[in-house]
Amino acid sequence: MSAAIVPRAEHRHRTAAGRPWQAIGIVAVALAVLFPVVSGCRNDMHDQPKYKPLAASSLFKDGRAARPLVPGTVARGHLDEDAALVTGRTDAGYADTLPFPLTAKVLERGRERFNIYCSPCHDRVGGGGGMIVQRGYKRPSSFHVERLRGIPVGYFFEVATHGFGAMPSYATQVPARDRWAIAAYIRALQLSQHAALTDVPAGERGSLETGAPAGGGAAGRAHGAGAPGAARGAPHE
Ligand code: HEC
Repeated sequence: MSAAIVPRAEHRHRTAAGRPWQAIGIVAVALAVLFPVVSGCRNDMHDQPKYKPLAASSLFKDGRAARPLVPGTVARGHLDEDAALVTGRTDAGYADTLPFPLTAKVLERGRERFNIYCSPCHDRVGGGGGMIVQRGYKRPSSFHVERLRGIPVGYFFEVATHGFGAMPSYATQVPARDRWAIAAYIRALQLSQHAALTDVPAGERGSLETGAPAGGGAAGRAHGAGAPGAARGAPHE
């Protein structure tokens, strides 16, 4: 490299004063010649000694470049110590109760999450006639059939977690506590479709018997919001 530079420098000293264009031309040619040499250094970066995912390797006995996880490895954020919370099961089978206290706030959360994640197929009442089904997706069973009304609440959690037949798993979109909230809300929907007049507080019964919404506008809005009790008034496909 230095052999090429030295003559060029001498040449420029001699000629720069008289013929500047010639000097510029020589520098340009020198740069053009040097460029591939300089840029060639980057080949090392393009061609790194590394394994691509799932590539084979003769270095390890099992022939795989990817190494198995050390037994007991826990992914960040997945130290699932509470088995009831993440499996929906007890030793006796599907859990019959939530693994945490059921409050109005939990049900409220369940309604919100159900309407977002489940109602597109199961519809807002759980009848199984959601918009995606109306557009041709497999029609799920209504949540109000005898079989599902008698099933432990842990079953709903399990189906949301692992999917069921044509239905995909919702474990990645919906965290475990929210899946429980949804399971509780499905139970509330079931009750809403099979409630007797005696389940309604005495003060509210009169309006149900006459068919007029209690409190006029306020009850109308409750229908729109899809409150469990109000779900009876929602259209049933
Ligand atoms: C994309 C449409 C779709 C969505 C969204 C959906 N499901 Fe389903 N679900 C289905 C279908 C279809 C079936 C019936 C599957 C089959 O029989 O192959 C089903 C079945 C079920 C069943 C009944 C299983 C049985 O024993 O009959 C439950 C419970 C259920 N889904 C819960 C949920 C919950 C909870 C959510 C929301 C987290 C949800 N689904 C979201 C389509 C959906």
